[in-house]
Amino acid sequence: MDRMLRPLHRWVWGDFDRRVRKLLAFAEVEGDGGRDILRAAELTPDPLLRRLYLEHAIDELRHADLFRQRGAALLQLRSARSEVDLNTNPLPGGHGLDDLAIEGEPDHRLLAFLHVAEKAAAGRFTIYRDVVQDDPSTRAIFEEILRDEVFHMNYTYTQLARVLPRSYRRQVWQARGSRLWKRYLRLAAAVANVLGSAILTVIYFVVLAPFAWLARRAARREPAGWIPIARAGSDSPTSQY
Ligand SMILES: [Fe+2]
Ligand SMILES: [Fe+2]
Repeated sequence: MDRMLRPLHRWVWGDFDRRVRKLLAFAEVEGDGGRDILRAAELTPDPLLRRLYLEHAIDELRHADLFRQRGAALLQLRSARSEVDLNTNPLPGGHGLDDLAIEGEPDHRLLAFLHVAEKAAAGRFTIYRDVVQDDPSTRAIFEEILRDEVFHMNYTYTQLARVLPRSYRRQVWQARGSRLWKRYLRLAAAVANVLGSAILTVIYFVVLAPFAWLARRAARREPAGWIPIARAGSDSPTSQY
């Protein structure tokens, strides 16, 4: 899928502003992921996993720093040109760690989730590294981060097989399924948003204009000024009206 989308990735990274936005968005996702994995290290009862989670968290926080520094450096480079709008993110980040939920998750579920997310990240970062050929510094960052992501992908799988020797494969498939489902929900929400806006726009132009025309026509038919009303016999003599 990602290979098919390679021209899209090339287009996204080909633009300077989008490149800066992506780098800063990645910094956010990696930093958030790092903090969540740090929390997982606090919660796990398994001493080996605690050490590995700690190392993993340190890696992710370093990735956040690398992305942020590179984004800032690029921003400084172009400070003379027009301002970059940093509030919009055209595509989701490469890591997928933004879906991570730590509290109440057993280690095997977390490991399966991390394995799937890291594998996706490794695939994405390989593509990003290839499409930023024109920018050796950014390329070097992807190269470096990619090595860490491959390590994360492998250790999570090995540890999952250790803590859940009988059904670790099924756990990975479940994690893949839930990741796909979340992707689908995000896509469906985005499509619903677009459709909702389109339908409301159509209603605005199609329904509102005839309604305004009818209201104006009805107003023209109303006689202006005071109108005599036929007196009804049942009116109370004491009523003010
Ligand atoms: Fe990372
Ligand atoms: Fe990672």
